[in-house]
Amino acid sequence: MKGIQIVATGSAVPKKVMTNDDWAKLVETNDEWIRTRTGIRERHMCENERNIDLGLQAARQALERSGIDKNELAMVIVATFSPDYATPSQACMIHEALELSASVAAFDMNAACSGFLFALKSAAALLEQEDKKYALIVGSEKISSKLDFTDRSTCVLFGDGAGAAVVTTDENAVFAADWGSLGNKEGLYCSYDKEDAYVHMDGQSVFKSAVRTMSECAEHVLAQAEISLEEIPYVVCHQANERIIKSVMKQLGGSEEQFFVNIGKYGNTSAASIPIALNELKESGAVKAGDRVLCVAFGAGFTHCGLLVTF
Ligand code: ACO
Repeated sequence: MKGIQIVATGSAVPKKVMTNDDWAKLVETNDEWIRTRTGIRERHMCENERNIDLGLQAARQALERSGIDKNELAMVIVATFSPDYATPSQACMIHEALELSASVAAFDMNAACSGFLFALKSAAALLEQEDKKYALIVGSEKISSKLDFTDRSTCVLFGDGAGAAVVTTDENAVFAADWGSLGNKEGLYCSYDKEDAYVHMDGQSVFKSAVRTMSECAEHVLAQAEISLEEIPYVVCHQANERIIKSVMKQLGGSEEQFFVNIGKYGNTSAASIPIALNELKESGAVKAGDRVLCVAFGAGFTHCGLLVTF
């Protein structure tokens, strides 16, 4: 199978920045607790913005930067667990706003924080059946709409944002991916029940599972690609907790320079965290054409996915 090539990236966050000190005015917490337990210093939170505003802005940026004709897209997939509407999908709303042709398929995918990588892996397989070469993949979340602002054990951990990538598949890029789901409900859930439509989390069990499954996924991807970690300039883990990322790094025997961390600025943005990170790597010039990046994610339902992308 052809490997996944990133053609262009984009990202968007709401204007409002909420610091740890801002949270300390609302719930019994403090900057030191949040920083040392998670690495988070601040996050962006929506005021009037909707999920679609963030997703569309990131999608437009990626599409403009790609230089492709928008109707060369075979599909738009949006990964999210916090859509504005039950239906139509966020992807269909992006389709409408970008005035894409009817031959471009659009749908959402919910695999929580692993959603962007689930969408990338799916797109790579689906593109094999298509005449058109490109897919627009967006991870977009308005998690502030799913938070209990009185529950300090969850509300301080998350942020809103979106990231996007125009991708294609290329026979010169190595395809390597590993995914799965542990079918877990109690560890992390958010129901539609109006009385209780908030994120609930058993932090410690999520932490342990995240370290184990992300490390295993990364090992499987490297073995499948027949490359060593030293050959990868950057590893992008889902940004849920800096301590989780450091534990995965230790498990794999990597270095701090390799393991990208930006959770300090954004908090956990779920499906948006990996595309926001990929966009930062690209914008900063840290990755150059031909570089391979190992991405690994873990999320609610204890979904997990690792895959190699080539810039
Ligand atoms: N400020 C201050 N104290 C707090 C806060 C807070 N915001 N939140 C909890 N505490 C208190 C607790 O009440 C507890 O107090 P107690 O000892 O008096 O009972 C104490 O701090 C320790 O709580 P723990 O839950 O044991 O803290 P821990 O060190 O495990 O850190 C954390 C909690 C940060 C949530 C950690 O478990 C974690 O990161 N887990 C993984 C989270 C994660 O990855 N989630 C995202 C998954 S991805 C997705 O799909 C959305």
